[in-house]
Amino acid sequence: MKKYILAIDQGTTSSRAILFDELGQRVGQSQQEFSQHFPHDGWVEHDPEDIWTSTLSVCRAVLKDTGIDAKSVASIGITNQRETTILWDTETGQPIYNAIVWQDRRTSEFCHTLHQQGLSERVQEKTGLLIDPYFSATKIRWIIDNVEGAKEKAQQNKLAFGTVDSFLLWRLTKGRSHKTDATNAARTMAFNIHTQEWDQELIEAFGIEQVILPEVMDCSADFGVIDESWLGASIPVNGMAGDQQAALIGQACFKAGMVKSTYGTGCFLILNTGDKPLRSEHKLLTTVGYRLNGKVTYALEGSIFVAGAAIQWLRDGLNLFKDAKETQSLAQQALNGDSVYLVPAFTGLGAPYWDPDARGAMIGLTRDTSVADIVSAGLRSVCYQTKDLVGAMAQDGATFRSLRIDGGMVINDVMVQFLSDLLEVEVERPKITETTALGAAYLAGLQVGIFSSLEAISELWQAEKQFEPSMAQGTGEKLYAGWQEAVNRVRTRPE
Ligand code: G3P
Repeated sequence: MKKYILAIDQGTTSSRAILFDELGQRVGQSQQEFSQHFPHDGWVEHDPEDIWTSTLSVCRAVLKDTGIDAKSVASIGITNQRETTILWDTETGQPIYNAIVWQDRRTSEFCHTLHQQGLSERVQEKTGLLIDPYFSATKIRWIIDNVEGAKEKAQQNKLAFGTVDSFLLWRLTKGRSHKTDATNAARTMAFNIHTQEWDQELIEAFGIEQVILPEVMDCSADFGVIDESWLGASIPVNGMAGDQQAALIGQACFKAGMVKSTYGTGCFLILNTGDKPLRSEHKLLTTVGYRLNGKVTYALEGSIFVAGAAIQWLRDGLNLFKDAKETQSLAQQALNGDSVYLVPAFTGLGAPYWDPDARGAMIGLTRDTSVADIVSAGLRSVCYQTKDLVGAMAQDGATFRSLRIDGGMVINDVMVQFLSDLLEVEVERPKITETTALGAAYLAGLQVGIFSSLEAISELWQAEKQFEPSMAQGTGEKLYAGWQEAVNRVRTRPE
């Protein structure tokens, strides 16, 4: 009986494969980190071969460790770090340059030129996005302009573009399928979220018209069948979504007004707005939440570039502790936690500031500032940034009473309690915090009939713990005012 679903979660710092059964229960997992490359200030790259080999090896490992035969896997779902851009030669299947990662700021100047050309309004109207190096389009253009032979290959119709999902699909199907899904396409800045088509006008404005773009599918669809040689069986790929949208699905936020926030490398707050795209007047993004049976559910998104990455920096860059688990007890020891602020603008600031040239800062230091204070400031920075997003959403008319959270950081009760205090909302942590992979599995399972409907999936969601706001009145506002002052010190483009 084919009853398992293999979810591939290709993230910014690691690749994961998780096997789920037909009840959405995790039966096994394998994870592998890979190298990050920082060739210049603000540049972030991955070797596409690392992305590919780590993905393949975790898929093989999870099958081996669980003893499950690939022939009992009914379907594969792929979820991925979004926006990260890969261009490859369609004849050889070889990428012509490293993957330019979503955090990369190298196209900041080009984005500035696009602003000056007056394109901002058109881009927001059509794609729901704000012009920024974050999205794929300007990264594609950079590769065409800077990699030897790229222009010629493009002119010969031999240069394919893909976000990580498409690249993995291409490799898994040995070049037989060049497809993506609507959520990933929506992050390229070249996809019209209203017509659900690649936008010719923007494609020409960005100068990327000669690159072959993937076919855009629903999130549950027949994406292709993987070559038998990879895992020992020809398994269909039936689910695909960018990791933040997959988390929205894994968190069962299927009703308009439901919201989730994922704390991984970055932090992404996504609110389901139903069948209507809500245009933000306060620098949030309008995007595709998911597309099923041709029907689009839209979302409003706040994107923060550095969340867990700040903790990683405190651990690996400053060596303040060995294991992220220690941050909970360190934060409890902080005596000056209220006056120290860390602004982790290592790769600029995302929503709602969109300042690619800002850089990080730590302020409020005194002679008795301790490691515990700095760690606490790191954890709180993630909560303060979430408050920035929630504030922008409220200004756009979107408020909520309850927030579902997930991602690696949320095991830290001290941080989550502070989040609930600061936002003054109930925060719910689910039993399964691997919601990204779970979302990909749900999408694949919907297509092959393992899950019957979104309602059936909703019934599987369970809270593990609820956090209620408990801070004394006025304290949160005072602390947040200090944060806003700290952020203003690093901004290069204040209003
Ligand atoms: O938009 C970038 C996002 O998809 C990356 O997610 O989980 O790798 O931080 P993550």
